Amino acid sequence: MTDYFPGFGNHVSTEAVAGALPIGRNSPQRPAFGLYAEQLSGTAFTAPRHENRRSWLYRLRPSAEHPPFTRYEGAGRFAPGTVQAPLPPNRLRWDPIAAPAPGTDLIDGITTMLANRDPADLEGVAVHLYAANANMEARAFVNADGELLFIPQQGRLTLLTEMGRIEIAPGQIALVPRGVKFRAILPDGEARGYLAENHGSLFRLPDLGPIGANGLANPRDFETPAAWFEDRDEPFELVQKYLGSLWTTMLDHSPLDVVAWHGNLGPWRYDLARFNAINTVSFDHPDPSIFTVLTSPSDVPGRANADFVIFPPRWMVAEDTFRPPWFHRNIMSEAMGLITGAYDAKAEGFAPGGLSLHNLMAGHGPDVASWEAASNADLKPHKLDGTMAFMVETCWPYRPTAYALDHAQPDYDAAWSGFPKAKLP
Ligand SMILES: [Fe+2]
Repeated sequence: MTDYFPGFGNHVSTEAVAGALPIGRNSPQRPAFGLYAEQLSGTAFTAPRHENRRSWLYRLRPSAEHPPFTRYEGAGRFAPGTVQAPLPPNRLRWDPIAAPAPGTDLIDGITTMLANRDPADLEGVAVHLYAANANMEARAFVNADGELLFIPQQGRLTLLTEMGRIEIAPGQIALVPRGVKFRAILPDGEARGYLAENHGSLFRLPDLGPIGANGLANPRDFETPAAWFEDRDEPFELVQKYLGSLWTTMLDHSPLDVVAWHGNLGPWRYDLARFNAINTVSFDHPDPSIFTVLTSPSDVPGRANADFVIFPPRWMVAEDTFRPPWFHRNIMSEAMGLITGAYDAKAEGFAPGGLSLHNLMAGHGPDVASWEAASNADLKPHKLDGTMAFMVETCWPYRPTAYALDHAQPDYDAAWSGFPKAKLP
């Protein structure tokens, strides 16, 4: 079991060995036990105080001690780059990916589906699927290109990070900051899910405006793990994602050797069941921004580099209203996944573990069956239950990878064929 500290972006002080954490200074001349002090910055040194995120790590060996990285030849579907040929403005949808070969760990089990900016721009977001059936035993991963938001769909994950152990199951999410090394253990033997890789400004909780001081994701429900480390002197591979490609090096020890740390940059987990959904109590369908869990702002006020939005179980009470999402065309681009159940704007074809893409200005909305059912529904209060869909919405249109283009469902457009023409008097 892991101890967790509640709060989002709080300053945490934690030590796995009593006396390891210096008091009153960050880099004493001789840290306790001969530990090495190392600062990990999540924002520029001079970021305003309320945005400034950094932590101090006290470790058995400095991260700097490693041989050169060389290209990593495994994981052919992770970080392959997107298709740069002219991209048709078509809506796309994917079934869950096929089961991986035996012995596939999380890193080799990642399939990059969508990306939109070069990681070197420090903007944009990528969406990956993962499907794995082996633990990362003597292998760690570190992402220089962004923070990683884990969205499990099937099977639990134990993320052994430099800064603590995180246990999550489907329905929970976890974030590993840019630059934090980790390895993944699969307590159920298999795991599947989604990854949102945020190259831009750090995910944070959205402002609440007129909602007030409470609601949506509450800060205290985010949990940062206590310090944990492993002392293993043995060959250990470290795979790194750096500027859009994968690299590897061999260490003679586990890099998960941070004995103590303090600061406000760290991994966390969050249970989506704790999301306080706000919705209409009169009429009309609010914009999905009402369900924003996390946002990564762009440089333009109100325009997100990436929003993580969920569609959780909730009561539907709107009167004289088409309750599912109406037809819409947006300047923002939407990648949607399904953790469990069914999504209320699609009758079939969108399975848990699947993915859909509605890019810049693509007309979409309910399919014919959902439109028909919602148009004729008896509008009593109704609980949408047993469902959890999510969206990674971004101001940068997504470009699929070659794998994604090759594996899209061939007939997605048919979801919007067969609508009867409106009849004028
Ligand atoms: Fe949409």
